[in-house]
Amino acid sequence: MSIYHVGIDLGTSRTTITTSTGQRFTTITCVGYPKDVISQKRLNKDHLIGEEALENRLSLNMVWPLADGVMREDVQAIEATKLILQDVIAQALPDKKPEDQVFAAIGVPAQASINNKKALIDLSKGLLDKILVVSEAFAVAYSIDRFDECLIVDIGAGTADLCRMHGSMPEADDQMTLTYAGNFLDSTLTEAILQKYPKVQLSPQIIKRIKEKHGFVYQVSEPVLVTLTEQGIPGEYDITDVLKESCLTLTDPISKAVQQLVGSFDPDFQEKLRNNVIVAGGGSRLKGIDTAIEKSLQAYGGGSAVCVQDAEYCGSVGALKMCVEMPEDYWESLA
Ligand SMILES: Nc1ncnc2c1ncn2[C@@H]1O[C@H](COP(=O)(O)OP(=O)(O)OP(=O)(O)O)[C@@H](O)[C@H]1O
Ligand SMILES: [Mg+2]
Repeated sequence: MSIYHVGIDLGTSRTTITTSTGQRFTTITCVGYPKDVISQKRLNKDHLIGEEALENRLSLNMVWPLADGVMREDVQAIEATKLILQDVIAQALPDKKPEDQVFAAIGVPAQASINNKKALIDLSKGLLDKILVVSEAFAVAYSIDRFDECLIVDIGAGTADLCRMHGSMPEADDQMTLTYAGNFLDSTLTEAILQKYPKVQLSPQIIKRIKEKHGFVYQVSEPVLVTLTEQGIPGEYDITDVLKESCLTLTDPISKAVQQLVGSFDPDFQEKLRNNVIVAGGGSRLKGIDTAIEKSLQAYGGGSAVCVQDAEYCGSVGALKMCVEMPEDYWESLA
């Protein structure tokens, strides 16, 4: 019998796994079930997971189990979460035998780590042998070995999670969760584009692609021109201004929250905190986000922010590290 250690980042939009055997895998946090007898016949499966579900979404009922940073606790969402965890484990540990054990540290949005911990533990029975539920932002700090005074800002899809580190386990008042994150930016951007060009045809995927390719919050030298359609006819549209304004609606509340966590900290260490802001999550890829946060900190005595190198995997890498290092009392046994 072997024991596998895995770190899982169970996010609103993406789930990532890193294993002690050096494997990595990422999927989209959704499950799709065939809508009717025809889709069932065509797909010939009870459910599809992640990218595959998204590609076939027109014939599926889609379930996104983590909405706005909390796990829905209805039967459907619980089942979907279970399928996703099962799938990432199977993909990342292809050689696992039934008698082998899996110990997993799972990073979830901060609110879910407080409110949905029990549900997560319950649904992991039969799937995992030991579980440790942690907040995603703490897993990020762990991945880069930052336990000294610093501020992690993890900008995901459903939530932006802020976590103040000070050399010991972070507590509830060290953490803040905002719903100003990727999904919020997507809907703001959709509205702003439609206000300027009311007839263009948009979908959540188009908006996401535009944001991920062109999104910026600080100086860009070239105008942003995108191809969109109006009644099926493609044309070029200039969205430079609406894109920047929309992106700034995300950074303003995040910068305010950074200042709030700095302001309520021990005054002797506030400067150190301001000078050690670490931005992670998919949102950290927004061009200029570190500079925008620095700029807003100027009013409070200045500061410095950097983005993590590996925005995609650092949450699951940190969770894996915790999985290997955390002493027995922090774990829940599922045996
Ligand atoms: N280059 C990019 N520019 C801007 N946003 C991006 C970029 N790449 C990814 N994103 C956005 O980051 C978000 C996903 O980030 P991440 O994978 O960290 O979220 P998550 O962990 O699934 O969500 P959460 O932390 O809220 O549970 C999505 O909204 C995505 O569109
Ligand atoms: Mg995340």
